[in-house]
Amino acid sequence: MIIKSLNQLQLISNNIAEKISKKDCIFLNGEIGVGKTTLTRMIVNYLQKREGVKQTEVLSPTFNLLYEYQISNFKIMHYDLYRIKNSKELDQLGIFKENESTIKIIEWPDLITDRPKNRLELELKYLKKEDEREIIFKGHGEWKNINEYKLQN
Ligand SMILES: Nc1ncnc2c1ncn2[C@@H]1O[C@H](COP(=O)(O)OP(=O)(O)OP(=O)(O)O)[C@@H](O)[C@H]1O
Ligand SMILES: [Mg+2]
Repeated sequence: MIIKSLNQLQLISNNIAEKISKKDCIFLNGEIGVGKTTLTRMIVNYLQKREGVKQTEVLSPTFNLLYEYQISNFKIMHYDLYRIKNSKELDQLGIFKENESTIKIIEWPDLITDRPKNRLELELKYLKKEDEREIIFKGHGEWKNINEYKLQN
């Protein structure tokens, strides 16, 4: 899918956020600065608003590896694995150990080989124009039949 602006990304993000359930997992791929954290921010803020909790800052967890957002009766765990070097470091994080009512959104997930059955994998790509991006959707398990055209309305 081609998106032409941040506004269009917001629409897609809102529609993705509506489909997320409490144990879901979203993997975000794509080059530095392409929009992975921006997409995460839109999803987190959308769900905060929907659930009637205060909208917070959503910063990049590049150095902290993880930021967490408690939203009513579920939690979003936002990881950035850019600085993780090997599978040993990855295992120490125990990303999938905590399973109850936690949504995981993971930037730079390449090192994760043991992936949850239900997951949405997105890849963002730069296009020629500054605010344009391509988003490639790969749904697995319950996300398998995701209709990307419906996400645009
Ligand atoms: N259509 C668009 N979609 C996403 N981001 C856009 C778009 N147009 C412009 N931008 C801008 O691109 C930047 C994306 O930065 P962001 O931190 O989200 O990237 P990132 O993929 O998380 O980078 P990193 O790999 O360093 O974590 C933001 O400044 C955002 O405003
Ligand atoms: Mg980021």
